[in-house]
Amino acid sequence: MCSKSRGVKKGDRVAVYMPMVLEAVITLLACARIGAIHSLVFAGFSSDSFAERILDCEARVLVTADGAWRGEKLLQLKYICDQAMIKCAQKGFNVETCVVVSHLKRVTSPQGIHYKSNQTPMTEGRDVYWQDIVPQASTSCYPEWMEAEDPLFMLYTSGSTGKPKGVLHTTGGYLLYAATTFKYVFDYKPNDVYWCTADVGWITGHTYVVYGPLANAATSVLYEGTPFYPDNDRFWTIVDKYKVNQFYTAPTAIRALMKFEDDLVKKHDLSSLKVLGSVGEPINPEAWMWYYKLVGHEKCSIVDTFWQTETGGHVLTPLPGATPMKPGAAAFPFFGVQPVLLDESGREIKGEGEGYLVFSRPWPSLMRTLYNNHDRYETTYFTKFPGYYCTGDGAKRDADGYLWVTGRVDDMLNVSGHLMSTTEVESGFNRTPFNSRGCCCCQTHPIKGECLYCFITTTDHAVFGEKLLKELKQLVRERIGPFAQPDVIQNAPALPKTRSGKNHEEDIEEDCR
Ligand code: WT7
Repeated sequence: MCSKSRGVKKGDRVAVYMPMVLEAVITLLACARIGAIHSLVFAGFSSDSFAERILDCEARVLVTADGAWRGEKLLQLKYICDQAMIKCAQKGFNVETCVVVSHLKRVTSPQGIHYKSNQTPMTEGRDVYWQDIVPQASTSCYPEWMEAEDPLFMLYTSGSTGKPKGVLHTTGGYLLYAATTFKYVFDYKPNDVYWCTADVGWITGHTYVVYGPLANAATSVLYEGTPFYPDNDRFWTIVDKYKVNQFYTAPTAIRALMKFEDDLVKKHDLSSLKVLGSVGEPINPEAWMWYYKLVGHEKCSIVDTFWQTETGGHVLTPLPGATPMKPGAAAFPFFGVQPVLLDESGREIKGEGEGYLVFSRPWPSLMRTLYNNHDRYETTYFTKFPGYYCTGDGAKRDADGYLWVTGRVDDMLNVSGHLMSTTEVESGFNRTPFNSRGCCCCQTHPIKGECLYCFITTTDHAVFGEKLLKELKQLVRERIGPFAQPDVIQNAPALPKTRSGKNHEEDIEEDCR
C-alpha cells in the first residue's frame, strides 16, 4: 500500500506508535505483506524512549495518529512523535516519512470536545495524513514471498541493564505458534466472539489481538479505551453487548475492578463467556476466585497463561476443559514445550521443588535474536545455564506436577503487567540536574502487583522535599513513560557503592547471570 510507494521494501523497519484503532492492525498486516519489519512501540512510552527505539532499529518510516483520548486524558501522539524525531535528528538520524492517522476528528472526547479539523502541525515533505494517501493506494498488492526464518517483526522489551532489547520474531514459526496457541488455549470455535483487552503495543496485543485471532479467522472485539470509562463496568457492558465468548485480560485489571461493588458485574448478562484468560503477571488466588465466581459464574475455564515477549506465545497454560484448575497455577507446558526447574548450580530439580524456570528445547515462536545484538541474545538468555533458555522467572512445581510461576528473579519488576528494569529508572535519576543518585527496588502493591520504591541521595544543595519529589517523578515519566512513575521516593542520605566507587549502573551486566 502507501508504505510501498514510499520505498519501504523487504527487511526495512517501520516504527509504529498507535492507539487501539483499526489502522494499528492494518499497519502491522501491511508491513507483513510487503516484508517490512514492524517495530511497534506502546503509545504510553515517552518521546525519549521512542527515539531510543527508532534509532536502534533505524526506522525511516513512522506510522502514528494525531492523538487519542484515554478516559478524560488527551494523548498527543503526534506531538510525542515530533519530539522523538527531533531527538533522532540530533543524533544524526532522520525519519523520512511520518504517516499520521487523523483520529481525533472521528471521536468526541468525554468532555464533549470534538476536533472538527486536523490540528496537528505537519512537517512539509515528511508528514502525510493516512486519509490523504491510503484511499489513493492500489487495493491489490502482491505479497512479498518470505522464508520461514525471515523476520516478521521486532518488539522492544526491558532489559536489566536499562537498554531495551529488540526481540525479533520470524515469519513461519511465530505465525504457526500464534495460530495454534490461540486455537487451543482459548478453545476458539467458528462464530465465537473473542476479546483480548491488551494494547497492541505489547506482545499480548501482537499475538492475541492481531496475529493469533486473524490466523484463525476469529471474530474479535478491538477496544480503544480504559476499563473505567465512562463507568467502572465498561468491560462487562462490552462482554454483554457483543456476547463475548472468550475474554482475555490481566490480573492488574481484575484487581482494580474487584474493588467496585459486585453489582457492577452482576447487572450484566455474562452468560456468553466460556473461557477467561489471564496474562502478564502471577494472578493471586483472591483475584482468580473473583474472576471465576463473579465473572465466570463458576462455569468458565480460567487459563492462566505464562509467557513473555521473547516466547512469542503461551508456553505454560492450562487447557480449557482439559486441565483441572488450581487458582494461580500456570499449570503445564503447551504442546512441544519442555520446562525445567534448575537450582543455583544448574542442577535439575525433579518432582516437587522451586527454582529457575528454563526451557530445554526451543519451540516455533521462540525469538531468534535481539535486533543487531546477537551477543546480548546469547549472554542474556543462554549463558547462565548452558543448553537452556532462561526466562528470568522463578517457579515452583507442586506434588501434582503443576507449575506455579513465582515472579522475576532478576532486576526486573512488573508494574501492572508492564515489565521494567530497576536500572532503567535509576539511570534516569542519575542524570538529573540535581545530580541525585537513586536506587530502586520493588514493593508489592495491592492493585498493580508490584510498584517502584526508590531511595534517593541528593547532592549539590538539592533539598529533599515535595518539589524535588514532583520533579523526580516527572523525570521518570518523561524518560520512560507515565506507567513507570515511582510510588514511593524515600530520602536516603547515603547509598552503597561498588568497590570501585561506581554507581552500580555501570557494573551490572546482563539478565540471568
Ligand atoms: C514477564 C514477561 C506475556 C505477555 C505479557 C508480558 C510475567 C507473564 C505471567 C503469568 C506469572 C507472568 C513473567 C514474565 N508473566 N505472564 N501468567 N504468571 N507471571 O510480557 O512484558 O515480556 O513480560 O511477565 O515475569 O517473565 P513481558
